[in-house]
Amino acid sequence: MALRAEPARRATGLRRLLAGLLMLVAGLGAGHARAEDGHDLWLRYRPLPAAQADAARGHATQLVAGTASATQAVTRAELLRGLGGLLGHAPVPADAVSRDGAIVVGTPASSPLVAGLHLDLHDLGREGYLIRSVVLDGHPATVIAGNDDIGVLYGAFGLLRRLQTGQPIDRLDLRERPRVQLRVLDHWDNLDGSVERGYAGASIWDWWRLPDYLPPRYTDYARANASIGINGTVLNNVNADPLILSHAYLEKVAALAGVFRPYGIRVYLSVRFSAPIEVGGLKTADPLDPQVQRWWRGKADEIYRLIPDFGGFLVKANSEGQPGPQDYHRSHADGANMLAAALAPHGGVVMWRAFVYANKPGEDRIKQAYGEFKPLDGKFAANVLLQVKNGPLDFQPREPFNPLFGAMPKTQLMMEFQITKEYLGFATHLVYLGPLYQEALAADTMEHGKGSTVAKVVDGTLDGHALTGMAGVANIGADRDWCGSVFNQANWYVFGRLAWDPTLSARAIAEEWTRMTFGNDEAVVRPVVDMMMGSREAAVDYMTPLGLAHLMGHGHHYGPEPWDASGPRADWTPVYFHRADKGGIGFDRTASGSDAVAQYAPPVANEFASLRQIPDEYLLWFHHVPWSYRMRSGRTLWDELVRHYTQGVEDVARMRETWAGLKGHIDDERYRQVATFLAIQQREAQWWRDACIAYFQSINGLPLPAGYAPPAHPLKYYQSLSFKYVPGYSAW
Ligand code: GCU
Repeated sequence: MALRAEPARRATGLRRLLAGLLMLVAGLGAGHARAEDGHDLWLRYRPLPAAQADAARGHATQLVAGTASATQAVTRAELLRGLGGLLGHAPVPADAVSRDGAIVVGTPASSPLVAGLHLDLHDLGREGYLIRSVVLDGHPATVIAGNDDIGVLYGAFGLLRRLQTGQPIDRLDLRERPRVQLRVLDHWDNLDGSVERGYAGASIWDWWRLPDYLPPRYTDYARANASIGINGTVLNNVNADPLILSHAYLEKVAALAGVFRPYGIRVYLSVRFSAPIEVGGLKTADPLDPQVQRWWRGKADEIYRLIPDFGGFLVKANSEGQPGPQDYHRSHADGANMLAAALAPHGGVVMWRAFVYANKPGEDRIKQAYGEFKPLDGKFAANVLLQVKNGPLDFQPREPFNPLFGAMPKTQLMMEFQITKEYLGFATHLVYLGPLYQEALAADTMEHGKGSTVAKVVDGTLDGHALTGMAGVANIGADRDWCGSVFNQANWYVFGRLAWDPTLSARAIAEEWTRMTFGNDEAVVRPVVDMMMGSREAAVDYMTPLGLAHLMGHGHHYGPEPWDASGPRADWTPVYFHRADKGGIGFDRTASGSDAVAQYAPPVANEFASLRQIPDEYLLWFHHVPWSYRMRSGRTLWDELVRHYTQGVEDVARMRETWAGLKGHIDDERYRQVATFLAIQQREAQWWRDACIAYFQSINGLPLPAGYAPPAHPLKYYQSLSFKYVPGYSAW
């Protein structure tokens, strides 16, 4: 008996052990406790809660998807990977629908099943898709269809996103198409592996080992971009090294283009206007010189031989020391059109940047781009886009919208946002940029009366342009989590989603990202989204409230230096921008000052010019007002300024508390990173507040309002701080 009993007991023990192990594994997998390093971005595909997975599994039993093209193959692979991860097991690949719950994927050309459904795809364009619950061969099924493989890939990501965000996938009838044509990341990556204004480590482009070595990271980069609809990438810094146009580098570029192509992503290059001299050995880069024109044509031909779907050129010309057509007394249009002519036969475009200001300080710096470009309206070739930063200065925490939007109806204007947080606390501060982007896109230019939003300029509907674009200066580097922090990933994400549809809400996108990044636990989603949504205003408050701008340290752009009046030129210094004196603070840009307001359409100009009408957040951008000025709140300007600075610090403290409340709901590794970074942010928010208050107080001699703590240190202390090795530093 005992002998016979023995194996049974052992079996029971083994079963218990196994069951225990299984529970452990399941616990680690299903809960949020499993450590994550952020590398998977929002494409984590972790198992859904059992009830949701059970409900969805019946709608993902089979996958009927082609592999005839590279894009079809990656679409199929992504669905198998995503559904497998989310639902616990992947649908069974099949050639035909033989049971309920199949997912059928393709275009009318690639799939007879899709063709047989006679779907109305006419308004979806090349990149749009529909996802619909249908009946095929008597079985309920889901079809993901488009006119082109790339639309279908976007649809596949769309279906996965639904699941990731906790939505059902039955009874679907979705139609989507991008509203903006070119949705592009601008990498400010240098060929030596550094990244200008990059805070997530070195460049991801391993130029040295290209074109041979193509690590999986390049494919993951393409997947992530395709998942949010980004369809272009400018690989190198706008302060461009001419070497990128050498044949050896073009071969490296071609290798990257090969990795990205299946994901619908085209490569573009930043080019240096004087490349005909540096690379071509010519004596001039004059755009009207036939030799120069021939050189660029030859270069374009060479590029397209290597990269048939090359996107085109991005150009920073006659800006911050870069060469350009004005060196030869030619206009920006002469320069852009010459390059456009070289690219046109191949279908390429020129993205010509409007970020220019004179080499010597003269008139109000923020007025200069308008002065140079407005007269050129209508003079650019059909394949030129003018790439305009969201504000007239330079990616500050808050700027009014750039007056070029709404002022050049005959020119294709594309938006340039910054995703990397050059002026917003680098990688460590938690600042979700959705509200900043949305604010810029929703701004009303009044070009054709009310409702003439910047978004409508950018998507081309306001003035009837077909070629449209949105660029974001990338925040991607070789760091394991790609962006220097988990929350910075949200800024890459929101840029892509808004480029797809500039009318989406920043909050809805934050929620989407949160669910995909941290799971659908409602105890996490709500507080995280609230925290993200308030984070940009907090940064404005502790850095540059009430319309102040450019108070950061010279060159490195890290930390406050409102006292700085040094450096090679006045209009790079904080004192130029805030103009604080004993009497008051702010830059008078009304008719009595630089009259920058006149660059806006009359109703907008009137609003900005009127002290009675101007919103508080733009007050000091447009007006120089006495410290004793009575604000809408009833407080004096000085008291209000101190209140905002203090509020910013308090908001960060609250963000820390919110995050602390999520301990246990978020895996340890990501929890600890964010907690640590928030502590840094709070310390630095305090530093910003105290340094700015100490400095402004040294100018106005006013006491702090009652109840507000004085700066922790005397002004001299803040002025003594210096930073030598700041990441992303550039001479500018
Ligand atoms: C900012 C930034 C520079 C960059 C420039 C640009 O000034 O600090 O590093 O080169 O913008 O957009 O060209």
